[in-house]
Formats: sequence, C-alpha cells, structure tokens
Amino acid sequence: MPAATIVYGSRYGSTEQYARWVAEDTGARLVELSTLQRSDLESASAIAFLSPILAATLMYRKALKRHADVLATTPFALVTVGLSPCDDPDRDNAISRALPPTLADVDPPVFHLRGAIDYGRLGFVHRMMMRLVDTQARRAVRRNPTDEALTRAHVAGVDQDFVDRATTAPLVGWVRQHSELAP
Ligand SMILES: Cc1cc2nc3c(=O)[nH]c(=O)nc-3n(C[C@H](O)[C@H](O)[C@H](O)COP(=O)(O)O)c2cc1C
Repeated sequence: MPAATIVYGSRYGSTEQYARWVAEDTGARLVELSTLQRSDLESASAIAFLSPILAATLMYRKALKRHADVLATTPFALVTVGLSPCDDPDRDNAISRALPPTLADVDPPVFHLRGAIDYGRLGFVHRMMMRLVDTQARRAVRRNPTDEALTRAHVAGVDQDFVDRATTAPLVGWVRQHSELAP
C-alpha cells in the first residue's frame, strides 16, 4: 500500500513539529518542501500539506499551484498553522486566496492548528511587522476597549506557545483513513 505523504514548510519550527508528529502517528512519509520531488506526490495514497499563516497569508502557497494537477487527483488535505484561534475566519480567507482554481473546485478538507511565537527568534522583517501589528492593536483597543477580538489581538510582543500534539488527532485520523483506502 503506498504511504501518505506529509509535506510541510516551516519558518520557525512549529509547523515542522506538527508534521513530524503526524508522520510519526501515521507512518506517513515526511517531506520538507524544499526537498519535495514530484514522485513523493505521485506515489502517495494521500497528501497533507502543512503551512503557517503569516500576515494573513498562507506561506508556501506557490507549491499548491505548481503541483495542482497531482493534488487535484489525490486525496489532499490542507493544514494551516497560526496563532489565531482555529475558528478565526481569516484562516479560511487565507486558504481561499491561496488555492488555485483547480484545487478550489476540489474543495479539500481543511485542518487548523495553533502555532507559537518567540519574539527573540524573529528575523528583522518579521520583528518590524509584529511591531506594526502591536501599535495598531494598541490604538484599536484604546478606541474600543470592550471589543473582545481586538483585546485578543493585543498580545503582540508577548511570547506564546499553543503547539499541542493532541490537536492533531482529526488530521491523524484523516491521514490514516486515506492510507487504508489506498489500493
Ligand atoms: C510576521 C508574522 C506574522 C504573523 N501573522 C499571523 C497571522 O496573520 N495569523 C496567524 O494566525 N498567525 C500569524 N503569525 C503567527 C505564525 O503563524 C506562527 O508563529 C506559526 O507558528 C509560525 O509557523 P512556523 O513556526 O512553522 O514558522 C505571524 C507570525 C509572524 C512572525
């Protein structure tokens, strides 16, 4: 039975950690995006693609376009990793913008996982971006201190870590199910 393939891109490590856990729990092949070969996808019984969300944008989305033909004809799940709560509509909006038309038609299952941020490890550009987010959030909270969503956003500058292996259970279930169904 061909194995499922877990493909991931990760800038700071939390998406990689999730991908490793899912591969461990399912026996799937684990492939980091920069080493991805077409054959890793073509030989897979199912493909899960894990990518972080940065600045409301799905990173590594170009790979979706590049491999849309294989992804559209193989059981394929898309997984976002971000700091925002998993029911944040921005997550689905980022996916809608990232999916090429062929994959939007397929309407793949989507899983959301929560990541982490360590301000001491951010690169210069990301530090500046987060400073801007912080300034905007502080202003917004001053204007409307009762807005819960804004108060939630007002945590920039504080390290956070929501990475939790238990939250991969639905994704692990999906990968297992599609490995078993493989011819
Ligand atoms: C510059 C920057 C922008 C970010 N923007 C978002 C965002 O719009 N939505 C979100 O949910 N998380 C956002 N995050 C949090 C990342 O998604 C989170 O740190 C994630 O765990 C990163 O994945 P990685 O560790 O695999 O690189 C942002 C992080 C950085 C550094």
